[in-house]
Amino acid sequence: TRYKVGYFVGSLATASINRTLSKALIRLAPPDLEFVEIPIKDLPLYSYDYDADYPAAGRALKDAIAAVDAVLFVTPEYNRSLPGGLKNAIDWASRPWGDNSFAHKPSAAIGASPGTIRTALAQQSLRGVLSYCNSPQMSAPEGYIQFKPGLITDAGEVTDAGTERFLRKFMEEFRAFIIRELAVLPRPET
Ligand code: FNR
Repeated sequence: TRYKVGYFVGSLATASINRTLSKALIRLAPPDLEFVEIPIKDLPLYSYDYDADYPAAGRALKDAIAAVDAVLFVTPEYNRSLPGGLKNAIDWASRPWGDNSFAHKPSAAIGASPGTIRTALAQQSLRGVLSYCNSPQMSAPEGYIQFKPGLITDAGEVTDAGTERFLRKFMEEFRAFIIRELAVLPRPET
């Protein structure tokens, strides 16, 4: 069996360290995990005015989440919370009312920051949002990566053995979490 993971990169920056982190995570993940990015950058700002007639971008987002077994958030921290663009994407996916894409969708979060708090508060905010959205979340291990220049190459190769071990372990745990959740939740129809 292969498991599909849709990943969100919470940063829209071209030189995003979290995008670099996502490449490392994909490289180090168990081979039966398949990854597809769920893009967020072209979504308009959400309003419930859209609910009656969801635009193509909103539909595509919801279809992408429906097509995967689990979602992974790789996100920076902005002003001690999750970036607005990522929150906007979650708002889109949670609606229209009664059609919340995150309900029963297993998830995990990880993030990188140059700072020593290492996205802990962003992830705490994200956890609250995902709890409300009824997404079962991997509670441990937590993934707080302090990013120093050169820690991960542009191609996603980790240059520090301890970090590499940790990221590999994180993805192994995420795989086990997905399998446990799928045992009690129906798989998405694709
Ligand atoms: C930041 N940064 C930041 N870092 C952090 O650890 N805690 C924070 O609250 C913030 N706040 C914040 C706000 C805004 C608006 C910006 C642009 C940046 C710094 C941030 O961690 C750094 O820019 C990372 O490089 C962002 O990750 P990406 O975009 O490179 O993936």
